[in-house]
Amino acid sequence: MGGMTLTLLLLCLSGTLSEDAGEDNLNDIMVQIQPEQGQDIENENKAHNQQVETAATTTTQSGCEPTIYTVMRELGAMEERLVATVRSLEGMRNRLEASESQVRSLNATVNELKRFNEDMPQVAFSATLGISGTIGPVSNEITLVFQRVLSNVGNAYNPTTGIFTAPVRGLYHFTFTAFDWGWTTMTGASLRRNGQVMVSVYDEKERGSSESSSNSATFLLQVGEQVYVALWRHGYRISDNENHYSSFNGFLLFPI
Ligand SMILES: *[C@@H]1O[C@H](CO)[C@@H](O)[C@H](O)[C@H]1NC(C)=O
Repeated sequence: MGGMTLTLLLLCLSGTLSEDAGEDNLNDIMVQIQPEQGQDIENENKAHNQQVETAATTTTQSGCEPTIYTVMRELGAMEERLVATVRSLEGMRNRLEASESQVRSLNATVNELKRFNEDMPQVAFSATLGISGTIGPVSNEITLVFQRVLSNVGNAYNPTTGIFTAPVRGLYHFTFTAFDWGWTTMTGASLRRNGQVMVSVYDEKERGSSESSSNSATFLLQVGEQVYVALWRHGYRISDNENHYSSFNGFLLFPI
């Protein structure tokens, strides 16, 4: 049956040619197209051909109409599917463009955070007195030198002078601990910023055991401002041994 439809379509299409092409040629074409078909079908086709030839020679194309209608309908359906596909592609393109724009924005944020992280100064130190013995009493307040460095990221702490110098303006946090052996001694020390007392420890005993005194503070430092721990004058001491009781620690919380 498929062969018949093809035959009809071919005849329809060649109908316009039939003025130029003789009927013999038309039959030649038929034979070429269906060379392997059986005798029965060939006979059937011949009968058909005669009908169609008659129709064709009497000029009307009425025999072709159902086939063309079918083809047109299929073309129409294909066009609908094509339109739907194009619409779906447009939707996808819009979504892709939105995603790309989002990726660009996120990438910009990531780059910004990366730069911020790279530019973020790293400042932190920790040091202990590093002596086995006692410092003090002293007649004039002295800056305590915590010589044994546990860490000194950014090298803002100087273990030779005991002075921390702010490399960037920012909020810093400091802690310090002063240890003494007790008995008849007292301990007292202050955390100073450029000479100004920020926090202190004070411990006075009539008799008794050893004791540790600690304090901590968080404050703003301008670039170059100095922080250190000072031992009070007039009778105060600070001690340490291999257990490292007395320490001075600090770090940058964040730049401002
Ligand atoms: C993200 O930004 C970096 C640096 O500007 C650039 O090299 C990279 O190509 C960007 N990536 C995307 C997906 O935009």
